[in-house]
Amino acid sequence: MKYLVISDIHGNLEAFRAVLAHAARKRRDAVLFLGDAVGYGAAPNQVIERLREMGAAVIGVRGNHDRVVIDPGEGAVFFNPHARRAAHWSSEVLTAVNRRYLGSIPIGPRQVEDDLIICHGSPTDEDEYLFSEMEAQAAFAHVTASVTFFGHSHVPCVFERAEVEGQESLGGMLLRGTRVVIDLDPSRQYLINPGSVGQPRDRDPRASYGMYDSAARRFTLYRVIYNVEAARRRILAAGLPHLLADRLLHGA
Ligand SMILES: [Fe+2]
Repeated sequence: MKYLVISDIHGNLEAFRAVLAHAARKRRDAVLFLGDAVGYGAAPNQVIERLREMGAAVIGVRGNHDRVVIDPGEGAVFFNPHARRAAHWSSEVLTAVNRRYLGSIPIGPRQVEDDLIICHGSPTDEDEYLFSEMEAQAAFAHVTASVTFFGHSHVPCVFERAEVEGQESLGGMLLRGTRVVIDLDPSRQYLINPGSVGQPRDRDPRASYGMYDSAARRFTLYRVIYNVEAARRRILAAGLPHLLADRLLHGA
């Protein structure tokens, strides 16, 4: 199966459009969505409408922002004031049909194939960040699938776990570049983050997404230029915090 892998769109229509256009000519059987369609950005309805248009092709899990936008009582206390403000605004502007769609996205983890699962934060907790090798090691203890896609940190990266003669070895790597190809070793386990479509945080402002071919065990990460200025203007026009607009310029 060939998958388009997207995460953390965060109401950024301009970035999402650019990713869909860039991926349009690549063959895919389904779309893996790792959560956070909304929050931060000022086009939550338009982003959800794009997801809805893809229909049953989307295999998704909800993100922590999706949860809070549906019900601001559900965990908004963990958000900083800017994130909370954007979540409340998104909740107010969401149409009934889009709210229903958002609410229908299941909580992860979700098994996609025998050997492939998707989640938002970590395989056990949608709010947990996987940044370090130690955090990845704890996460690997809870998965048997060899490939797990996760989001939430907005940083494209891969953690790899191997067991050689009973000895565990673990390594992590940030994925940097316009196109990065990784061939997965079937005897190893992987946690892979395709980065964020709508709010990259690795100092590369380009939208990030991945393609995964499960038969060939090949993951490819792509970075795509989009109209950051239009996304910024939309955030400012909605009266959302300047910081949320400006961080898009820096990919931070
Ligand atoms: Fe996110």
